[in-house]
Amino acid sequence: MRTIRIFDTTLRDGEQSPGCSMNLQEKLEMTSRLEALRVDVIEAGFAASSPDDFKAVKTIAETVKTCYVASLTRSIEADIEHTWDALKNAQSPLIHVFLATSPIHMEYKLKMPPEKVLERAAESVRFAKKFCPEVEFSAEDATRSDWDFLAKIFSSVIEAGATVINVPDTVGYTTPQEMTELINYLNANVNGIEKIILSVHCHNDLGMAAANTLAAVKAGASQAECTVNGIGERAGNAALEEIALALRTKRDYFGAETNIDTRRIYRASRVLSHIIGMTPSANKPIVGANAFAHEAGIHQHGVLANRNTYEIMRPEDIGIPSGKMVLGKHSGKHAFEDRLVSLGFDLGKDELKKAFGQFKTLADRKKDVSDDDIIALISDKSLEIDSGYRCVRFVVNSGSTIPAMAAIRLEKDGVETEDSSTGDGPINAVFNAIDRITDKHYTLLDYSIRAVTEGEDALGEATVKLGRGNEIVTGRGLSTDIIEASIKAYLSGINKLALKNGDKK
Ligand code: KIV
Ligand code: ZN
Repeated sequence: MRTIRIFDTTLRDGEQSPGCSMNLQEKLEMTSRLEALRVDVIEAGFAASSPDDFKAVKTIAETVKTCYVASLTRSIEADIEHTWDALKNAQSPLIHVFLATSPIHMEYKLKMPPEKVLERAAESVRFAKKFCPEVEFSAEDATRSDWDFLAKIFSSVIEAGATVINVPDTVGYTTPQEMTELINYLNANVNGIEKIILSVHCHNDLGMAAANTLAAVKAGASQAECTVNGIGERAGNAALEEIALALRTKRDYFGAETNIDTRRIYRASRVLSHIIGMTPSANKPIVGANAFAHEAGIHQHGVLANRNTYEIMRPEDIGIPSGKMVLGKHSGKHAFEDRLVSLGFDLGKDELKKAFGQFKTLADRKKDVSDDDIIALISDKSLEIDSGYRCVRFVVNSGSTIPAMAAIRLEKDGVETEDSSTGDGPINAVFNAIDRITDKHYTLLDYSIRAVTEGEDALGEATVKLGRGNEIVTGRGLSTDIIEASIKAYLSGINKLALKNGDKK
């Protein structure tokens, strides 16, 4: 059995796609989920791309204890040095250098001839190696590169000290058969390939990211790059959960396994969805709401007679809560704490106290508090921003024969302000009233509301996306009252945007 190294790039390739950006606190929350999943490498960001990314990579590098922490860097000496500054305190750092190798990228993006690219790649790896024992080299757009050139460049970066070589299918263009042939070709033609880790990084533009990754693994690749829920540029990256479960379910076929604790997948997926406000589609493999639902009578009959008739995986394999054990308003702190531990949350004393208070408030409004409610509550609590606007109280009037009207009182830095507005429905009215107080400096790009769990008293989760210039932030709010959830989401977005821009708005 080979063990395939799982390189998670949720915080870099995932985070860099539109609408998926995360602030430091959110990245740290996700880092805990990734460590609990037991990924082998966490790519924490692109340190030299911005001061925020630098800070995130540095903080994650100083936090993570159980796996490698990587940062992507361009093949530029100043960037590599800066990247090392962010990574140097990590227990196990990894510098990830990339350079494009396809004819179209070399000619139009890099404006460099192939010989220069070859030289720059080796120089960059040699330079990175001065700082860090673990250096990965990615040949961007590898699958549209000339194979002979690719073999040459990989041979030369291995000679320069690369410990991992990565084959990105940057634009999601390849097929499983082609990937198999490419990996076979590289295995036969790259000097020194037997002493390094051969990695693949697939995008999902044609819906084949997981299949291409698995084809590469079958052909001998020993590292898979992926993201939770498959988030990433355009159609996303190969999904961690699909790769981990495919390798687990078809272990004998692949002759390979991973270190992933699959029972942590559901929680990691839910926490990420809460953070970025993007829920996987219902039919998404493994983590979609219908992934384990048997609706058709004939299927239900078969599953009741023998689960294996229609189930190749069990919900418990990925940690889907059974839903049998619910907490309620009579549950004590110990029961709540026990449940948090079994869900993989490790809160400090103060955080626990605060979370318990929020749980009690929720339990007063909602009869049964399920695991899904607790996951939502904890994700919400961990993303709270202490500064900025807070809702003191609100009143909303709406109906089919009157225009919706809202009045709201907000507090910021000890000062309370009140205003009111009409609107096209209650949410629009209350958002308009908030805009009048906050001196609107953002655009509402998206708004959604969904129930966290089933039932009439379900917790509602509102998500807004707010934009200002190039910045897009996600705000979330939770409440059994959907207007309150929407207000919280809107204010959390406004506060995040203000924090991001370092302004006083
Ligand atoms: O898709 C890609 O080519 C990448 C590399 C930079 C690894 O994300
Ligand atoms: Zn990528």
